[in-house]
Amino acid sequence: MSELNKDRIPKHIAIIMDGNGRWAKQHGVPRLAGHRAGMEAMKKIVDHSDKLGVEHLTVYAFSTENWKRSMEEVSGIFKLLVTFVNRDLKELIDNNVCVKVLGDYSMIPADSKEALERTLASTKADTGLQFNIALNYGGRDEIRRSVESIAGRVKAGELQPEDITEEMIGDGLWTGKEHANSPDPELIIRTSGEERLSNFLLWQGAYSEFVFSDVLWPDFTPQEYEKCIAEYQSRDRRFGGR
Ligand code: IPE
Ligand code: IPE
Ligand code: MG
Repeated sequence: MSELNKDRIPKHIAIIMDGNGRWAKQHGVPRLAGHRAGMEAMKKIVDHSDKLGVEHLTVYAFSTENWKRSMEEVSGIFKLLVTFVNRDLKELIDNNVCVKVLGDYSMIPADSKEALERTLASTKADTGLQFNIALNYGGRDEIRRSVESIAGRVKAGELQPEDITEEMIGDGLWTGKEHANSPDPELIIRTSGEERLSNFLLWQGAYSEFVFSDVLWPDFTPQEYEKCIAEYQSRDRRFGGR
């Protein structure tokens, strides 16, 4: 990490891993081969985050809108994810990586779900890098869920509407105290040249720095990752102050 300031490594980096389909097209292979190459890229970024001392890494693996894709692609993506966590489970444990899922994954195929739960259970106590996989994740969906649970407390008479705080809303999100317990990301990276959020971390990204890379996700290397972090380090974060 030659050019990086070791004292200003973000504690939480979030990545919108985009461009697998275009990579596949470029290489004349099926879309799923693009997703497979994407998983390999993801693995390297997990390892590298750990090396750099990042404390929380969140990757956008599947959105609440991605169900619009063909069933073949959707089930293929879940299978690949599970292949990854299964194959690398031992290594994740050896590296003390704690895996969490952001999103309701109850509807993924049974075998995938079981493998995922095995990973979550066996890395639960790990104290190294926390690796959050956003799966069936949507920013609006999680805000709605948090608000629903707060409304339940109001209905039960435990809470007055005017006592609802921003903190309570944040606590009920997948990244909140009740679940992954990750701080807001300082840095959100999106690959493939697209410059939009696509429903990712809407609440948590209020003051995040955004870095967009033109590289398609399967081609995203630790070196490119460091370039994005260097770009972040060159930014002046003001949080509304002067
Ligand atoms: C990102 O790659 C992975 C997922 C959304 C699951 P895409 O599949 O969106 O790739 P492009 O955008 O079609 O190139
Ligand atoms: C965002 O990418 C979701 C993930 C990377 C999982 P999409 O490819 O689904 O987003 P849009 O459709 O281009 O906005
Ligand atoms: Mg895309």
